[in-house]
Amino acid sequence: MDLTGKMAVVTGGSGDIGRAICEALAAAGSDVIVTYVGDQDRAEASAGLVRDAGRQASIVQLDQRDEASIDAAAAAIAEHGRCDVLVNNAAWNIGIPFRNLETLDSATWDRVQETNLRGPYLLTRALAELLAADGGGRVVNIASVGGLFPGSSSIAYSCSKAGLIHLTHCLAVAMSPSVTVNCVAPGLVEGTRMAARLPDEVSEGARRGALLGQVGSPIDIANATVMLCEAESITGQTVVVDGGNPAAMNFG
Ligand SMILES: NC(=O)c1ccc[n+]([C@@H]2O[C@H](COP(=O)([O-])OP(=O)(O)OC[C@H]3O[C@@H](n4cnc5c(N)ncnc54)[C@H](OP(=O)(O)O)[C@@H]3O)[C@@H](O)[C@H]2O)c1
Repeated sequence: MDLTGKMAVVTGGSGDIGRAICEALAAAGSDVIVTYVGDQDRAEASAGLVRDAGRQASIVQLDQRDEASIDAAAAAIAEHGRCDVLVNNAAWNIGIPFRNLETLDSATWDRVQETNLRGPYLLTRALAELLAADGGGRVVNIASVGGLFPGSSSIAYSCSKAGLIHLTHCLAVAMSPSVTVNCVAPGLVEGTRMAARLPDEVSEGARRGALLGQVGSPIDIANATVMLCEAESITGQTVVVDGGNPAAMNFG
């Protein structure tokens, strides 16, 4: 799909990786709606980068744990008249080492699943008709290598991202042939807020395991997202961006 003049929604566009995705989509010719949950200034900054690239940008508040907020955001997006691309990038994590089973309580479990898995499903469902209109569109889910093998900020996070990867498969079936649904699974991305919440042994393991001597980069994640939007014959797939960790190669 040629992204020129298309409309893309990037959830969590106010975040570290979301900002890079907004910029890359704009560079490929797309207008961008940036969502945020609380940090309006960072959302405005991402929108500014889109405008600097000569494309239109707006921001929309979205709490994807809250069904009413999802419906309101979808209605605000629909006012633009089109939605060709949805990047489900927004997520939340907390660092709880896997062995600390007692620390991972039901409230934390629910918050992670609601934000990282239920929210993307409900938002995709709310936008499905718009995405399928006008020749069809693209969904790209941003998961994590923690969804491919058991290692991440917490068991809840790994399970939410494994769910998001399988949601990608299921929606690829449900939304075919008009909408492709693919996934990017980053490993550790240095300097991000999420990386700062990882248990030390997880970050150190990711650095040690990276065959390329560097972990995932926001630019590679953003470029992989654009590639999956532009592709005509790829659906239901996951692209890993982690500096080449053999642990993730068994699943790709
Ligand atoms: N950073 C890493 O090392 C890493 C590794 C693997 C995968 N990933 C994945 O990459 C994606 C982006 O991560 P990041 O590092 O850019 O994270 P980030 O900087 O913490 O950004 C998270 C984004 O999600 C939004 N958000 C949080 N809770 C939300 C909610 N309830 N409803 C709607 N939006 C919500 C935040 O909005 P506000 O800005 O308004 O708070 C922010 O825009 C995530 O899916 C993450 O799981 C990241």
